[in-house]
Formats: sequence, C-alpha cells, structure tokens
Amino acid sequence: MAVHRLCLADIAPQRVLPVLVLDDASLAAPVREALTAGGLSCAEVTLRTPAAATVMARMAEDPDFLVGAGTVLTPGQVRAADEAGARFVVSPGFSAAVAAECADRGLAYVPGVATPTDITAALAEGFTELKFFPAETLGGVRALTALGGPFGDVRFLPTGGLTEANFLEYLALPAVPAVGGSWIATSALVGQRDFEEITRRATRAVHASQLGDAGNAGRR
Ligand code: 3PG
Repeated sequence: MAVHRLCLADIAPQRVLPVLVLDDASLAAPVREALTAGGLSCAEVTLRTPAAATVMARMAEDPDFLVGAGTVLTPGQVRAADEAGARFVVSPGFSAAVAAECADRGLAYVPGVATPTDITAALAEGFTELKFFPAETLGGVRALTALGGPFGDVRFLPTGGLTEANFLEYLALPAVPAVGGSWIATSALVGQRDFEEITRRATRAVHASQLGDAGNAGRR
C-alpha cells in the first residue's frame, strides 16, 4: 500500500505553522492547548533544546494535533523525532541522509533551500515542497516572486523573520501554501506563561489568512 506522506496543505491547513523553541517540557501541553484554542492544530518543534523530544511526545498525546520536528540535521534526530511522535521533519538545508531516513520511516520531509542551486538539487531528489530559509534575509517576497519564474512548480514554506506584520504578503504568493514562524508562540511568551496571548496571536493569524484567502478568491 502506498504511504501518503503529508504535504504542506496537510501539515498547515490554516496556512500558518507555529515554530516552537521550548526548553521546559511541562509547558508543551499548555502551549499546544493555547494554539488549538486559537485554531492552529500543528507545530514545528525545533530540536534546539534538550527538552525537544519530550516536548514533541507530550504534544503528540493529542492525536488531533500534528507535531513535526524542526532544525533536523542528522538521521539520528529523525529517529528520535519519529519515536517521539513527530509526523513531519523540517531542516534548514537539504540532507540526503535525513531524506533517506524520513523515507524509510514514512515521514514527510521539508528540506530547506536558499538558492536556485539548492532548489535544483532538491528537485533532483524529488522534493517540490521546500522551506525557504531564512526568508526575510534572503529577500523575502521579492526573492520568492523571482524564484517563481524558473521554479513555477515549486511550493515554498518561508520561515525566518516572518511576523504578524508581513506573513500575509507571503501567503498572497501562489507558490506559498503556508508560512512558518515563531511569532505566534515566542520563547518570551512561553517563558512568561502568557498562553492567552499565544491564543490571541493564533486566532489573529487564522482570521487574517482566511480573509487573505477570500481576497485572493475575489481577484481570481
Ligand atoms: C526556524 O526554523 O527557526 C524558523 O525559521 C523560525 O524563524 P523565526 O524565529 O524568525 O520565525
């Protein structure tokens, strides 16, 4: 039976993927609940803290919440993420070894790209949905618009420097099914246990992306 690997539209149906850097696993469930209350039932948990595997496992206890691992650089991290319940893997760059481990485990892999050469290499390996990182530093919306010429079939998940003020400009691009960013649940908000503000930010992001969709449909 063919394995259906998640695509970006499955990973982030509301078109916004919260990126989390959590160093206290006891906050995993409250953060998950705060995001869910705001309409976002997915998160990329970056493997930048010793607590990350436990954070993913606690978040994955809710079967309706889709947890992925971010900042994945090695096959060993893919194994750890899979065992913790992650269902997709995101990297800042492209790693053939990470891609192979994800394929063995049936996990979706969203590799990172920064240049036309990176994109060409990822396409050659069969990847058409790519993280564009660090998006703002690389030229943001203008860079993605330019890349859409030669790479019209590629879909991008821009992350790095996105905020409440600029993410809709990215979502307006046909090549961008979803965006990622830490602005919804920043480390500062999590540290302050300000779960209500996380819910407010998630709610605003969901509403704004839905309004953006309606506007785009009106123009078509
Ligand atoms: C990441 O993978 O770390 C994301 O790019 C997060 O970037 P941000 O903190 O600028 O949103």
